[in-house]
Amino acid sequence: MFSTARPLDARVLFGPAVVRDPFPMYQELLPQTPLLTNDGLWLVMQQDHVYAALSDHRTFSSDLIHIDNAVLRETPILFEDPPEHTRHRKLVQPAFTPARTAALAPWVAEVVDEVISAVPEGAVDAVPAICDALPVKVIAQVMGVPPELHGRFKEWSDQRTFLVAQRGQPESPEAAERVAHATTMNRQLLDYFVGEARARRAEPLDDVITALVLANEGDDALTEDEVAAICALILTAGNVTTTNLLGNMLAILADRPELYREVRKDRSLVPDVVEETLRLEAPVQWLYRRAMRESRLGEATIPEGASVIVYFGAANRDPAAYPEPDRFDLENRKRRHAAFGHGIHFCLGAPLARLEATLALDATLDRFSTIERGDAPAERIDDAATHCGYRRLPLVFSH
Ligand code: HEM
Repeated sequence: MFSTARPLDARVLFGPAVVRDPFPMYQELLPQTPLLTNDGLWLVMQQDHVYAALSDHRTFSSDLIHIDNAVLRETPILFEDPPEHTRHRKLVQPAFTPARTAALAPWVAEVVDEVISAVPEGAVDAVPAICDALPVKVIAQVMGVPPELHGRFKEWSDQRTFLVAQRGQPESPEAAERVAHATTMNRQLLDYFVGEARARRAEPLDDVITALVLANEGDDALTEDEVAAICALILTAGNVTTTNLLGNMLAILADRPELYREVRKDRSLVPDVVEETLRLEAPVQWLYRRAMRESRLGEATIPEGASVIVYFGAANRDPAAYPEPDRFDLENRKRRHAAFGHGIHFCLGAPLARLEATLALDATLDRFSTIERGDAPAERIDDAATHCGYRRLPLVFSH
């Protein structure tokens, strides 16, 4: 299917079959990468190459001016290079340090408890019940968005995630309508945060919006538009990713009852289950970079100006790095993974995502003696390339 005898068709890479299950493609292509597709995309999958590209932000830029997507191009931090990236990240980082995140643990545990104790015994779709419900409550509360707006917040977040994934012009009137709707939602989201930034300047609270409004380095501070754009990034970066981590982890445990029993007995394994889930099914499978100059990666010469896809999800399954890369194996705790990226763009929310996932697993283990797959089929996400997770995850929970 992924023969490299002729140039690879880039459309296959983003098609539903590959988005649903990209792993067979990695097995086939990874040894031959870096590889060029028929429309000029360089695919980087081997772990050494992925870390090399992520470590060299001067050669592999995150400023994606060549991608036809206004929302993506206007997203601060994630899609910026130094010096803008350094400036923005420095101002945001204090709000997300490991120490600050650790201090959130007691109330994140309360939110987790609220969500997990509402899961009834029996058949449940875990996506709405747990995976969607938890991250939006946590991220909204961290940011200082009141509970009555959490539903709207999730809708805004999903619509912005959809917009970021768009490429080029919509191909049908229906698609154009969907994009127009998502654009309106995104505008509402940004306007909401501009309003909140103004309100926090007048009356500071103990939340991330306030931290951003008050953040300054020397004489440098963020404008209200910058605060809004960063809040929108944090919202989208922290929502669907954590949702997918939770779903992937619950599915892995439902398929491995002996693992569930073992972890239930020995809770010290909980963080290892979270890490091995991140390795095996990275919620963010890949992101773009842009080659700023000609460079060598392995056997390939990547030309200046090339569009590059860096596959975190494939690096995590490189046979050179893991003895059995496609098997869930807690022994991989000794090895690194790239699910949160590497280098200057390393995920700012990694401590928070880890905190949520470990607390959610602990609470699930407390409440249920077993979890199994339900009768209804699970559905994996197949329409949002880069994301790896479930759209529907029927499970049976037993006390
Ligand atoms: C399991 C959940 C998560 C995964 C798998 C994940 C993954 C990633 C990855 C791979 C990157 C690097 C992007 C790159 O190299 O271009 C990243 C960056 C980022 N993440 Fe996360 N993320 C998660 C949760 C979160 C959360 C909860 C937040 C917010 C609280 C967050 C905020 C960010 C931000 C702001 C960046 C940009 C950092 C930069 O460019 O300097 N993420 N994330």
